[in-house]
Amino acid sequence: MKISDKELIALANEARERSYCPYSGFSVGAALLTRGGKVYTGANIENASFTPTVCAERVALFTAVHAGERDFEAIAIVGGKCGEAAKSPFTPCGVCRQVLSEFSGKDLKVIIASESDTLTLTLGDLLPHGFGKDLM
Ligand code: THU
Repeated sequence: MKISDKELIALANEARERSYCPYSGFSVGAALLTRGGKVYTGANIENASFTPTVCAERVALFTAVHAGERDFEAIAIVGGKCGEAAKSPFTPCGVCRQVLSEFSGKDLKVIIASESDTLTLTLGDLLPHGFGKDLM
């Protein structure tokens, strides 16, 4: 049986607890669901040099791709002030939208959650007219 959106959000929340965010104090967790039903998680990992910081979504995606996955159905994302419940949903950064688009179609479900709200969009909503291999 496939995992529900609620369960995927719970896994993103769990992953968020392993964020390393001493510089921004903003922790993010992501849970990426493959079409085969597996889930790969990630959290943001920051760096004293700032630029090498990697977002939660990319940690989850790269872990999945390295495990041999190429086909994704949904990603749940939660974030907020470190140590606190996620206050309001936020949309993923532009770099993560672009990186997700390398391995997902416009139909990828993007579930952005806070403790009280859930916003469900698609990658197509978030990255209209994006650049991809089809344009090369
Ligand atoms: N961050 C994410 O992990 N995902 C996003 O989509 C937006 C931002 C992280 C990066 C950085 O560690 C912190 O949130 C503040 O920007």
